[in-house]
Amino acid sequence: MKTRQVKRLTLTMIAVMMMSLILPACGGKSDAADIVVIGGGGAGMSAAIEAHNLGAKVVLLEKMPMLGGNTARAEGGLNAAGTEYQKAQGIEDSPELHFEDTMKGGKNVNNPDLVKVLTDNAAESIQFLKKNGAELSEVGKAGGASVPRIHRPEGGEAAGNFMVIALKKKLEELNVDVRLQHSVTEIVTDKEGNVTGVKGADKEGKTFEIQAKAVILATGGFGANLDMVVKYNSDLEGFATTNAPGAQGDGIQLAEAVGAKLVDMKEIQIHPTTIPGEGVLITEGVRGDGAILVNQEGIRFTNELLTRDVVSKNILAQTDKIAYLIFNDELRGTLKATDTYFEMGLVEEGQTIAELAGKINVDAAVLEQTVHRYSEFKEAGVDEDFQRDDMRLDFKKGNYYAIKVTPGIHHTMGGVMINTQAQVLNEAGNAIANLYAAGEVTGGVHGANRLGGNALADITTFGRIAAQEAVKSLD
Ligand code: FUM
Repeated sequence: MKTRQVKRLTLTMIAVMMMSLILPACGGKSDAADIVVIGGGGAGMSAAIEAHNLGAKVVLLEKMPMLGGNTARAEGGLNAAGTEYQKAQGIEDSPELHFEDTMKGGKNVNNPDLVKVLTDNAAESIQFLKKNGAELSEVGKAGGASVPRIHRPEGGEAAGNFMVIALKKKLEELNVDVRLQHSVTEIVTDKEGNVTGVKGADKEGKTFEIQAKAVILATGGFGANLDMVVKYNSDLEGFATTNAPGAQGDGIQLAEAVGAKLVDMKEIQIHPTTIPGEGVLITEGVRGDGAILVNQEGIRFTNELLTRDVVSKNILAQTDKIAYLIFNDELRGTLKATDTYFEMGLVEEGQTIAELAGKINVDAAVLEQTVHRYSEFKEAGVDEDFQRDDMRLDFKKGNYYAIKVTPGIHHTMGGVMINTQAQVLNEAGNAIANLYAAGEVTGGVHGANRLGGNALADITTFGRIAAQEAVKSLD
């Protein structure tokens, strides 16, 4: 593991390990809330804000020392159809088309009822975020989308962290009871199996119990738990992960302990463009905004805008299972998210294609020929080799850049089964009373392959719905 990644993990992992070492020892306090939200990523924060605004007394519990979870690492954006921002750009889209793309991208393994909820309500999630200080006003193109639909902050800043900063500020403004470094160890039920609260321990190991009329599980997936990943899909042994260290699947285990049914657990997404050995994510936005992919021989080998499963498979078929994202200054200007890659030293650069080729050990004449051919396709508006329909860069001017990438574990599509009201279901398909779930802890929304931009749509939309349904149940 490289220094950068070690630094990134150290603080958070030490905190988690310390917590689990001292958990069993101590006795602690008990209190009550209308709704306990477990997990402070995007789904949990959205749920907590919505529930609070609907009048509920909310406690949000987060096991890590900071809010954000995997959302803080999400770079691309949020898919929503029929928004004011699409209309302003003359983009014709509809929830029905978003539905079709999502089902097709997920190979129809998705639960269509959940997908319909997602696609019908995603535009409202854009409004929710705008109201809460996270306006996503730019619209871009992501893999598997028929039209530009992925919404991101102006200037192409990474969308996830932008949302986390805004929602955290909103939680503070609203004075919502947020407790960091509070790990939940049990969802408590009564004799009939109705959920009545949670038990857990704080960072000092002091146990706590909170009685609640409803519990919303928003703990994220298990993409950072490599044993669990391999348990469900042994083909993924040895892959690095893009996930935040908290994505351990503990929420899935909590739900299983109260009888929740799990669905699609083997469906684990590898993202095509991550830094080899490190798992640092290079956003799909780089391809969406115009970058091409070439192999070590300097040759293009795929339509860069196909779905993640297909682009990943195509990269894995190349020499050393790697590829290079090639772009120029024009893209740097549109996508602020790339600043971080330069700061992290992940980018090779050259004033000419030949100079760049030398930096990445690719035959200069071949790379020049590949880029020249692509420029001609761009000019003619037809990609004769791979039928890419959205070509934004003509590569006529430098500077030129390359990032070496390989696929890495990114999203766990499986999780607890929910219905359209975000209620958690048991093995018999009945709702477990007072238990709701939203986001990556759930399964069924994304099927066998999630489209880029549908995770932020999922967490915000189902986070809000879980809160609305939980608040309704309080009466
Ligand atoms: O490529 C990305 O920026 C990832 C986005 C997502 O997982 O939705």
